[in-house]
Amino acid sequence: MNRGRRGLPEAGRVRRVWDEAAGPFDDFIETGLDYHRLEIHGPALLRACGDVKGLRVLDVGCGQGYFSRVLSERGAKVVGIDLSPKMIALAKRHEKVHPLGIQYRVMDASRIGRAWGPGSFDLVTACMSLHDMPSPGKVIRSASRILTKTGAMAFSVVHSVNNGSLKWETNPNGKRVATVDNYFRHGRYVVRWDMRRLKHHWSTVSYGFTVSDWSEMAEDSGFVMQSIREPRPTKNQIRIHPELEPCSRVPLFLVFKLQRAQDSPRVPKH
Ligand SMILES: C[S@@+](CC[C@H](N)C(=O)[O-])C[C@H]1O[C@@H](n2cnc3c(N)ncnc32)[C@H](O)[C@@H]1O
Repeated sequence: MNRGRRGLPEAGRVRRVWDEAAGPFDDFIETGLDYHRLEIHGPALLRACGDVKGLRVLDVGCGQGYFSRVLSERGAKVVGIDLSPKMIALAKRHEKVHPLGIQYRVMDASRIGRAWGPGSFDLVTACMSLHDMPSPGKVIRSASRILTKTGAMAFSVVHSVNNGSLKWETNPNGKRVATVDNYFRHGRYVVRWDMRRLKHHWSTVSYGFTVSDWSEMAEDSGFVMQSIREPRPTKNQIRIHPELEPCSRVPLFLVFKLQRAQDSPRVPKH
């Protein structure tokens, strides 16, 4: 078992930080201030999902349900799971106000393979959640098992250059510049949500994984990589939200689409 510094089991530590973050995180999203999500990684993940109409989708680490709702509004039949009871309570509250038929359950993502059998879903999604788990490889492997034979997984994560080793500084010309060091360092790091536009500041924990790590996790799970994207803003998006400019120079997000291996377009069907 992964144990944190204070001897708390790792899942307990993650649950606690996300329970504490749930309220401010919900405000951040619902007030439209998370424009990286609205403009950059959210649309990229949706593109990776493709047409979801009629698909049975499991949204892993669904938080307060933002992406589950987006999928449901596009015609998917969605189940959302999250480790944090407070996040799930918020997701259920949104469902009560605007019923979409989404089912939410408190569950550790490492248990999805026990909760569902093969062929239970057409698509597994994870919007910015897998890098918040100490062992996402196990989750990706379980996802592969509960999908149909033609099923796929699509997920967005913090870009590997941004895994705690990226430092932003303002240079003498007033420009924000980044340096990257210790790219290959693994393990837990603290994420401070201290952007000026936030009313409340909070901290969470994430785990560092390189691009090769993500690729190996997919390969070891019986998936074939269909696409990797590094979404970035257009000039027009930067004009509307100047704060997006640094992410046109340094990639902040990775979006993966994985296909069950036997259905890989690279494998001849006959
Ligand atoms: C950055 S939030 C993203 C939430 C949501 N997908 C979204 O896009 O708003 C990360 C979420 O992952 C959840 N999480 C972290 N570890 C988990 C685990 N082992 N099993 C399930 N959920 C987990 C956290 O509770 C948190 O809600």
